[in-house]
Amino acid sequence: MSNDTHNPLDPAETREAAEELLAHLHRVGVPFIPLPNAERVAEWESRFAVSPPASPSGEAGVSAASTPPATKPAPTAAEIGDEVKTPPRAPTSRLQPVESFSVNDDPYPGVSLPIADRQQQLEQLATTVSGCTKCSQLAKCRTQTVFGEGNPGTRFAFFGEGPGADEDRTGRPFVGRAGQLLDKMIQACKLQREDIYLLNTVKCRPPGNRNPEPNELSNCREYWEQQLQILRPEYIVCLGAVSAHTLLNSKLSIGRLRQRFHQYHESKVLVIYHPAYLLRNPDAKKAAWADLQMLMRDAGLVT
Ligand code: URA
Ligand code: SF4
Repeated sequence: MSNDTHNPLDPAETREAAEELLAHLHRVGVPFIPLPNAERVAEWESRFAVSPPASPSGEAGVSAASTPPATKPAPTAAEIGDEVKTPPRAPTSRLQPVESFSVNDDPYPGVSLPIADRQQQLEQLATTVSGCTKCSQLAKCRTQTVFGEGNPGTRFAFFGEGPGADEDRTGRPFVGRAGQLLDKMIQACKLQREDIYLLNTVKCRPPGNRNPEPNELSNCREYWEQQLQILRPEYIVCLGAVSAHTLLNSKLSIGRLRQRFHQYHESKVLVIYHPAYLLRNPDAKKAAWADLQMLMRDAGLVT
C-alpha cells in the first residue's frame, strides 16, 4: 500500500462511501440514522478537503483522474442528504426544518433492550396499566384497558387516540372499522400488523367516544412514554390530531403538520389523518396515501 497514490480522503469518494454505508445501515434496519445536516456536512467536507488539483469543473478536491470528462459536477451536500435515503430521489421535507417539531432530540432514556426483554417489560407495564384508576370516570366506564400490541422489535409505531367500543370490548387496539382501514393502509405500505406496534394516547375508552380530556391525556402520558422508550421505534406515525398534539406539544392542524418529519427522541414522527376521519372524509385518502408513500420512501420500503 506504500506506493498507493490513492488519496483516502478524496471528498467525492468519501461521500460515496458514506452514502453506501448509510444505505446499508438503512437496509439492515439500524433503528436510527441522524438527519443529514447540510451545514455540518459542508464543515466536515471542508476540513477533510485535499487541496484541489486544478480541475476543469473547479470542484475542490475532486481529482481530474477520478472525474470522467463530461460527468455532472459532484452533488452538493444537500443533494446527498436526499440521495442517501432511497433512490430514486424523491422530494421530502427532511431538509426543510421549517415547522418541523423536535420535541426532545435527546436519545431515549435508558438502553436499547433485546427483544425478549422488551416483551417482558411491556407485559409488566400492561399489568400495571390494567389496574390503573388515575382517571376516575374512564376507569369506571371501561370494560378493560387497551394497552397496545405488536412487534416489540418494530421499526414502526402507530400512535392512535384511544379505544372505541370494539377495542374496549376486545382489549385490542384498532379492531373496529377504523382499524380495518388502518390494516389496509399498513398493507399498502407493504407491512403487516405483525410488523408494527399499535398504541394509543389513553388506554381506557372515553365514554361515548368523546375526545380524551387534557387531564386524562396527562394521566396516561407516562404509559405511552414508557412504551415508546422500550420500543425505540425508528418511526412513529401519529394518527390524527389528538396523538399528534400530545406527542409534539403542538396545536397545529394536521394539514400543517403532515408531509414532514418531526422528531421525538430518536424517532422520526410523521402525522397523518386518522383512519376514522378518512372513513368520514374519503377525499382525504389521497393525502394520507401521499404521506404513507413519504414514509415508505424514507424507510426504504420502496425504491
Ligand atoms: N381509534 C383509535 O385511535 N385507537 C384505537 O385503538 C381504535 C380506534
Ligand atoms: Fe389510567 Fe390511562 Fe386509563 Fe387514565 S386512561 S385510568 S391514566 S390507564
